[in-house]
Amino acid sequence: MRALVTGGAGFIGSTLVDRLLAEGHAVDVIDDLSTGSLANLAGARSGHGHDLRVHQLDIRSPDLVDLMVRRRPEVVFHLAAQADVRVSVSRPLFDAEVNVLGTLQVLEGARAAGAARVVFAASGGTLYGEPATEEIPVREVHPHRPLSPYGVSKKAAIDYLVCYRELHEVEFCALALANVYGPRQDPHGEAGVVAIFADRVVRGEPVTVYGDGEQTRDFVFVDDVVDAFVRGAERGGGLVLNIGTGTEVSVNELAGAMGGAAGAEVQAVHAPPRPGELRRSALDPGRAGIHLGWRSWTDLQTGVAAVLDHVRSAGSV
Ligand SMILES: NC(=O)c1ccc[n+]([C@@H]2O[C@H](COP(=O)([O-])OP(=O)(O)OC[C@H]3O[C@@H](n4cnc5c(N)ncnc54)[C@H](O)[C@@H]3O)[C@@H](O)[C@H]2O)c1
Repeated sequence: MRALVTGGAGFIGSTLVDRLLAEGHAVDVIDDLSTGSLANLAGARSGHGHDLRVHQLDIRSPDLVDLMVRRRPEVVFHLAAQADVRVSVSRPLFDAEVNVLGTLQVLEGARAAGAARVVFAASGGTLYGEPATEEIPVREVHPHRPLSPYGVSKKAAIDYLVCYRELHEVEFCALALANVYGPRQDPHGEAGVVAIFADRVVRGEPVTVYGDGEQTRDFVFVDDVVDAFVRGAERGGGLVLNIGTGTEVSVNELAGAMGGAAGAEVQAVHAPPRPGELRRSALDPGRAGIHLGWRSWTDLQTGVAAVLDHVRSAGSV
């Protein structure tokens, strides 16, 4: 297949690019390198350079549609985004420019290029708002009631995907991702808790736990998520599909798993709870099982060990 990956220099996008190239597909990457980096594509560029083209471009650029028409992708994997909930709260217009208008431009490009399908990185952690305890793990039929500008912009993108399917016959598959973790996730700034904890543990520093640490998340390993994207290129048309483990893991349990993988006790420093933080979160992946034949297979211990190895070998200590 001729694939185009927006956000292909990012954490999940670059892991997807590696997988697509390994399967022999030709890949175009569009990324403005705002949070991603060419270093994430170093292996892809040295190993499969002839099958990979990297275009440094903002998805909001007026040049995007022409570029997509020239490259004629069959499948567009759309992962480029303003992906930080807190930035979306402080800069909602910027968030909407990238996640709504940028997505719309990617859809215009897909339509003009005659792409058969767009596989979209939606956000399962924000799409459903704050489900009641008895609704966890949450299913896709739960009302879509996001509580942050980021969640709203990601939901609006799904609405546009539905609209383009009806109007222009561009098929889509929207993957509502849980908390994705794995190598290459940026431990600095607003990154996921696994990357932040791993960085601290490798440095021998204590981890900061907000509140009592009993808040839960659904941590899903990046290779498993990438497998769902590849499946979504051919199956799951017209659907929103949860991509998570279905299992809640508390922040305290995560710290314990990390200590186990590192072979050291992890010291935790407690800080006040962060306002607006979800108490519990997990996604029911049953629909992805039916429509994609997908389920996560990497257990937390194995995944966390891979992250620690990556942090150590990246030499950030
Ligand atoms: N990591 C998670 O747990 C998670 C959960 C749910 C959804 N998602 C979604 O998955 C996607 C990938 O997330 P990630 O964790 O790999 O984040 P990331 O920041 O590593 O990747 C995003 C990529 O998009 C690029 N980008 C940002 N704005 C752009 C623009 N205007 N034009 C072109 N490129 C742009 C960045 O440079 C980066 O390479 C995002 O759409 C995110 O919203 C991630």
